[in-house]
Amino acid sequence: MSRYILALDQGTTSSRAILFDEKQNIAAVSQKEFTQFYPKEGWVEHNPMEIWSSQYAVMMEVIAQSNIRASDLAAIGITNQRETTILWDKATGMPIYNAIVWQCRRTAPIVDGLVAQGLTDHIRQTTGLLPDAYFSATKIRWVLDHVEGAQARAEKGEILFGTVDSWLLWKLTGGAVHATDVTNASRTMLFDIHKLDWDDTLLKALNIPRSMLPEVRSSSEIYGYTEIQGVKVPIAGMAGDQQAALFGQTCFDAGEAKNTYGTGCFLLMNTGDTPCESRNGLVTTIAVGLGGKVQYALEGSVFVGGAVIQWLRDELRLFSESRDAEYYAQKVPDNGGVYLVPAFTGLGAPNWDMHARGCIVGITRGTRREHIIRAAQESIAYQVADLVRAMEADTGLELSSLKADGGASRDRFLMQFQSDIIGRTVRRPVIRETTALGAAYLAGLAVGVWKDKDELRQLWNCEMEYTPAMDAARREKLLHQWHRAVQRSLAWDE
Ligand code: G3P
Repeated sequence: MSRYILALDQGTTSSRAILFDEKQNIAAVSQKEFTQFYPKEGWVEHNPMEIWSSQYAVMMEVIAQSNIRASDLAAIGITNQRETTILWDKATGMPIYNAIVWQCRRTAPIVDGLVAQGLTDHIRQTTGLLPDAYFSATKIRWVLDHVEGAQARAEKGEILFGTVDSWLLWKLTGGAVHATDVTNASRTMLFDIHKLDWDDTLLKALNIPRSMLPEVRSSSEIYGYTEIQGVKVPIAGMAGDQQAALFGQTCFDAGEAKNTYGTGCFLLMNTGDTPCESRNGLVTTIAVGLGGKVQYALEGSVFVGGAVIQWLRDELRLFSESRDAEYYAQKVPDNGGVYLVPAFTGLGAPNWDMHARGCIVGITRGTRREHIIRAAQESIAYQVADLVRAMEADTGLELSSLKADGGASRDRFLMQFQSDIIGRTVRRPVIRETTALGAAYLAGLAVGVWKDKDELRQLWNCEMEYTPAMDAARREKLLHQWHRAVQRSLAWDE
């Protein structure tokens, strides 16, 4: 009987495929990086065909590596970088423009226009989001404005829009299925998270034809089939990567939270079947659509998390391997008074300033490379600490512990400092591939590999626990200085 689940994890910098067996053992992994385009200051693009080809290549690679047959695959789950926007020609399957990536700031003026029209409250109440260039809506408008004839063709139903999940689903099914799931839809700034439908007011404000939007489905069901080695394999799970990680961390109940330390940092807390409106700069989003119901989450999104370490490596060339950051940060007893705010693409939660830019403050003649590296490491943890405080203030719940995952959760210095600065235990699971695992869980539930969430909960095992060891006075002092540094980075680009 087919009992393997293939998770396709299409992230911001690489496409990955991970094959899980039903005991969630990883049978094979394959990863392929793809090109990042920065055509102008603050702009970020991907080539949608390269997204597809790299994803297809790793999918075939894990099948080849593991020696399984396509008939051993019970299902495929897709998880993806969210908000990234692709428009393609329905007839040819060719993109009409590069993918505009979630980090891209080019549509800030369009967002300012929505705010000027007085739509901020409507956006907040309907979509759960804040008006920001991060989300897909204004990216769609930009492409329709900048590709000749695109608006007219979209109105005739010849152009389709999708986030990366939709794009991959459409490609995998040979153009048969144009759909997305509720979690990805909730990141577009066009989706009414209460009525679970596209919002006509926003579609009208941005002049986006409804006909170009994908059908919105749950996160766990059979959407369609892809043919591998002559076998039709069901695609049965889809969720944005942060929601998939929340699911993979088995945060199934209200009050459970995880933080993913990837390119950015994304803290999500499940709030159950009630959407919780934030008064502290977080957004309300859909956690999962499963079994005819949706669950909501509060989310804090930090745009630059682990990416600050890559910046130190690639642009400042302070070390050659990312893992060296941990070593250098520990070579000094403290940050030497240096704070680094990595607002390279503006600031997300809780400050939401599209015009913020990065800064390093507190430099003295005694500042060494190690201090800068440590300040960068600490900046990841401070940003997450701000999210934890906002989340606790919004929900009135105190986090008992924080579940951590993502590449930078390997970094012991960062994890200990995180625990110190939030004053909470940080727990890392044995399977750190929680994003892919979440997609596998969603697909596996749909086809009966796993019975229910209780069965999945039994599979979560803690690999490492970090407990806070910093006194409260020191914690507050560090956070106070951090907040002063953040103030200096705000509104820099105006
Ligand atoms: O919202 C953006 C997020 O989905 C990107 O995640 O892991 O590709 O950096 P990641």
